[in-house]
Amino acid sequence: MSSALLTADDVSFRYAGTPVLHEVSVRAEAGSMLAVTGPNGSGKSTLLHLLAGVEQPFSGRVHRAPAVRIALLPQRTSDMDALPLTVTECVRIGRFTGHRRLTRHDHTSVRKIMERLEIAHLGRRRLRELSGGQRQRTLIAQTFVQDADVYLLDEPTAALDASTRRHVHDLLGEKVRAGASIVIASHDAEESALADRSLAL
Ligand SMILES: Nc1ncnc2c1ncn2[C@@H]1O[C@H](COP(=O)(O)OP(=O)(O)OP(=O)(O)O)[C@@H](O)[C@H]1O
Ligand SMILES: [Mg+2]
Repeated sequence: MSSALLTADDVSFRYAGTPVLHEVSVRAEAGSMLAVTGPNGSGKSTLLHLLAGVEQPFSGRVHRAPAVRIALLPQRTSDMDALPLTVTECVRIGRFTGHRRLTRHDHTSVRKIMERLEIAHLGRRRLRELSGGQRQRTLIAQTFVQDADVYLLDEPTAALDASTRRHVHDLLGEKVRAGASIVIASHDAEESALADRSLAL
């Protein structure tokens, strides 16, 4: 029996009066992956923002289990290019908690995920000096290096080549087997089929 880590109950949302979501309910369960599908503009990103707490619902409610840790990989991340961060620094951010210095274990986790996503050789480059796919791999690394309970991923593989996409799918499977919950917005039918459940908007 899986337990809900994060739920949205009958949430509705509007941007400046324009309705986007109408009474949508989702459950993010431990050890399970949920695909959110639907055409451009159907509200997938908005739903992930509500689940992450970045936006508040107009009606209905979002409930987080106590102390649940949430990692969000947004679809639009171009603001990050303004920061003078190297790839390694960007991935390290995923291990910051604000309370302590990074440990040797943190640095090992950063190195391992960068190797898995084949960005280790790019460590000293700035984000804005990367190709679109290399940049996306860096942001995926920053997300997966986090020890989260729920990973909210907004079209994470849209910019990736086939082999990197498979690496990411392997990582998704590992996170789920380790007990995490994944909510993934996707336009890719093959990718959505990896999920245990799906929600069409
Ligand atoms: N900041 C905003 N202000 C006003 N309207 C917005 C804003 N962000 C999104 N919208 C509108 O809300 C609707 C849902 O957008 P959303 O980004 O959630 O869709 P999506 O399903 O993620 O689409 P895509 O597949 O293109 O990523 C769209 O009609 C969009 O135009
Ligand atoms: Mg979107």
